[in-house]
This record gives sequence, structure tokens and C-alpha cells, in this order.
Amino acid sequence: MTDSTTEIRAAVRWATGVLAAAGIASAPVDALVLAAHCLGVETSEARRLLVLGGAELPQGYAALVAERATRVPLQHLTGFAHFHGLTLLVGPGVFIPRPETETLVSYAVAAVRDSGVDTPAVIDLCTGSGAVAFAVKAEVPSAAVYAVELDPLAHGWAIANRERLGLDVEIWLGDARTAYEELLGLVDVVTCNPPYIPADQVPVDPEVRDHDPALALYGGSGDGLAVPLAMAARAAELLKPGGVLVMEHADVQGAGLLRGLSASDSWRRADDHPDLTGRPRVTVAVRD
Ligand SMILES: C[S@@+](CC[C@H](N)C(=O)[O-])C[C@H]1O[C@@H](n2cnc3c(N)ncnc32)[C@H](O)[C@@H]1O
Repeated sequence: MTDSTTEIRAAVRWATGVLAAAGIASAPVDALVLAAHCLGVETSEARRLLVLGGAELPQGYAALVAERATRVPLQHLTGFAHFHGLTLLVGPGVFIPRPETETLVSYAVAAVRDSGVDTPAVIDLCTGSGAVAFAVKAEVPSAAVYAVELDPLAHGWAIANRERLGLDVEIWLGDARTAYEELLGLVDVVTCNPPYIPADQVPVDPEVRDHDPALALYGGSGDGLAVPLAMAARAAELLKPGGVLVMEHADVQGAGLLRGLSASDSWRRADDHPDLTGRPRVTVAVRD
């Protein structure tokens, strides 16, 4: 395709080929999403135009496709990530929220509702874009939701998302391991999707390896559990007796995380739960 070939069917077919050749498994979807982005319409509308044929794509589509072919994340090109019914602003400097983290949100929302408290206190450690914190607040508006993020760039994205979504979440810039001293022992639910990739396991996908911040990826030890266990220790300090920690982990880390939690004797019980594909991804632990 050149910028003079902009009929939508021909252009999207061309883009799909370019993206597939670049090793992008989701090439047809990405080609369509970029077309929608260029047209300023929803993806469903772009799909309709694709079926009808004849619509012209604006100039710039080819350049966007070329950028995506260098493995710049799709969400960096559109500026958005969809998560649990919310549309979040994302870009360089912040971890792109993943669909599997919606499983964490489901367990967190259940724990918040089960707390039986009128205004449950929820803290999201390692908030990144704020995805989990905003999803919980959107589901349970009566909750008082707090979040903390160490990386100033990521914190900036979370603040931008709060303004965009209009959700009342307090977002602190600092280290989650010392966050919210004033709430020690008072919190009903702590959520956390920490960095947990083992230190020497560099991700294969360039979108992750080259564009997600290292601080968001690596768990700080050979098994990747050093940071998650440090976050669990802070959660134990923040939670009230009977309060609940909901933490995401890699599918191979469930047993190790449960062992780490049981070594601390802070937890009355801890269980591991699968995501929608059946892989164990979320630990739910109840404070003693
Ligand atoms: C895997 S990302 C998760 C982001 C977001 N919760 C989500 O699910 O999309 C982990 C986040 O933890 C942040 N982080 C790492 N160490 C931290 C620390 N000690 N205190 C606070 N945030 C930290 C990273 O900057 C990154 O934004």
C-alpha cells in the first residue's frame, strides 16, 4: 500500500499482511483497530465499513501500520487500553493493563462486597495506570479507594486517568512498601498486581520487553517473588483482622507464593484461584 491506496478493504488487507509478516499474532485485529483509530470511529463501526467496502482511510494509516510493525504496542499508537469496561489512557512509561488482571478485579470486588462494611477501605498497591483501583471504585462506588505507585511517569498516567474517568481515588506517589502509614490495621481489602517476572527471564515479545517499564515487570529475585512477598508483608500491616489480600501472580508461582505467605503467620488462610483459561493466577489471603 502507498498513501494513495486508501480504500478500506485494500488498506486493511495490506496492513494485515504487513503486521503478520512482523510476527504479530493479532494482525487482522490490529489492522482494523488502527483503521478505526485513523477514522475516529469505534472498532465495530470500522468493521461495518470494512464489510461494506468503499470507505477511504485518511492519510497516516500506512505510517501507523509501519510503526506497529516495529512492535510498538497497539495501545501506545491508539493511546488507550480497555480494561474491565473502562477506557484508560496509556503510553510510554506505564504498564499496559492486561485482560487477565480482570480476574483479580473480580475476586477483589467480591471481597469488598463480602466485607459487609458501609464504606470499605481498599488499597491498590503498585497501581500503574490505576486500572485495578478504578475498576474496583467503578464497581463499588461506596468504597474509599487508595492507590500507590512508585514510578513518577506511571503515577502521572494514573492521575490523568482519574481526571478522565472522574472516579474519586486517592493516588499516592511513593513506595508501596511504606505506603499509607495512617491506614495501618484499618484496611478491608488490599489489591496488588506486582511486578513478578523472574529477574533473568526477559520477555520474548518486544511490546513487553522494550515498552513496558522494567520496574513494572521484574519481581526482583530468581523466582520473581521478592517484590510480591514484600507487597504481601505491607498488605499484612495495612489490613484489619479478617481483611483480604488479592494478588496476581504468574501461573507457575501459585505454590511458591502460598509457601511465602504461610511462612509469615500473618494469614488465617490463603487460596489460589484460576483465571478464565483455568490457569492459577490469583491468590486470595485472609489476614489473621
Ligand atoms: C505489573 S504493573 C501493574 C500495574 C497495574 N496495577 C495493572 O494491573 O495494570 C506493576 C506496577 O508496580 C509498580 N511498582 C513496582 N515497584 C513498586 C513499589 N515498590 N511501590 C509502588 N509501586 C511499584 C510499577 O511501577 C508498575 O506500575
